[in-house]
Amino acid sequence: MSTYRFKEDFVWGVATSSYQIEGAANDDGRGASIWDTFCKVPGKVVRGENGDVACDHYHRLEQDLDMMADLGLQAYRFSIAWPRVQPDGRGAFNEKGLGFYERLVDGLLKRNIQPFATLYHWDLPQALQDTQNGWENRDTAYRFADYASKIGSVLGDRLASIATHNEPWCTAWLGNVTGYFAPGNESLKKAAHVAHHLLLSHGLALQALRADGVKAPLGIVLNQSSADGATDSPEDQAAASLEYEKFVSWYMDPLFKGRYPAQALAWYGENGPQEVIQDGDFDIIGTPMDFLGVNYYTRIFASASGPKRPPGVLGFTDMDWEIYPQGLTELLTKLNADYHLPPIYITENGCAAKDVLDHGRVRDTDRISFYDLHLAALSDAAKKGVDVAGYFAWSLMDNFEWASGYDKRFGMVYVDYATQQRTPKDSALWYRDVIAQHAGVAAPR
Ligand code: FCB
Repeated sequence: MSTYRFKEDFVWGVATSSYQIEGAANDDGRGASIWDTFCKVPGKVVRGENGDVACDHYHRLEQDLDMMADLGLQAYRFSIAWPRVQPDGRGAFNEKGLGFYERLVDGLLKRNIQPFATLYHWDLPQALQDTQNGWENRDTAYRFADYASKIGSVLGDRLASIATHNEPWCTAWLGNVTGYFAPGNESLKKAAHVAHHLLLSHGLALQALRADGVKAPLGIVLNQSSADGATDSPEDQAAASLEYEKFVSWYMDPLFKGRYPAQALAWYGENGPQEVIQDGDFDIIGTPMDFLGVNYYTRIFASASGPKRPPGVLGFTDMDWEIYPQGLTELLTKLNADYHLPPIYITENGCAAKDVLDHGRVRDTDRISFYDLHLAALSDAAKKGVDVAGYFAWSLMDNFEWASGYDKRFGMVYVDYATQQRTPKDSALWYRDVIAQHAGVAAPR
């Protein structure tokens, strides 16, 4: 294990999301989400799988909380399923759904684990999609702020932090350009409108939570990557810079600079967000945040002549994503230079691997090395002046990996889906030791 140097109150955690682990899709008055619907569309999810049962976490809450405590976790990042607490996305709230998250948060606090909540990890109430085209419609941003305010009033005093969105790029781009994620649209213009409304909803939610007096630190979680050109040619370098703007700056600039990035805006052309931007929107979107969450998995590798396979010196994960830890250092130091940032949490980082349970043990050496390399890269970024507040490994346990179904295993804990038995992998035991060694240890100056 490398020695990582972080500040004394650095937070060590793991992350999950509601649709990927909860199951209990029809229990206690939960409404349908766009992912329930999307999973039923033939060809969208590997083997036609869905999150109806997933890790059955909804019914196994106490056991899973005990498991987190056994792993020595300091923090747990989870998401709240909007349709579980407000089945139609507007109007009445569902007490039983809210009750589940109260039990979760209280159970964490009882075990000394800090609850980090995310309000939206892609499971939009289907009713909002059916009645008003979901995030294409500006009104959905106002519905989101109402929902946020309700969560603030119920849980705000007990949460260690609240993030509005998880990875709005995925919602906008994968959900509306490639059709790879719910709701499965294929329109660049829709994606631009959706992205704008997601950003707007973030700002509206922050304003509502602040107005309500919620004290928990507030922020957003973005998936980000460093970007390299396949060669040093000006064409490849330009391609890398455009891809970076479409992926990273498209969200960072509105949040921190009050505008969309020029190059990417020109690239969108008439399919851009212009029709839906209203006066004052950027003031709302730019509402100051207490933290920024960054999810990092791999880098962008761009070439002017279309997609190129990166060299993969350290190999590729089971998702076929290049293992590129130094991109994390590069990304964070660049962000730090380009923006005036609040403290940063790495809210997700991890890898899929073909883990096999072998006599009660999973020897996932590749995953340990992935985490180790990325923590070292993060420690480097901290050394270079980035204010890094914590790290959340993706994920606590194997779960429903969206369009890839259950085939891709990202967990530190192995899940046997036939029996729902959980078995900590070697990486979980390693992480427990990392936490124990680093907890409360300040970086030498
Ligand atoms: C991220 C998602 C998360 C998980 C990981 C592998 O993009 O936020 O839900 O699927 O990728």
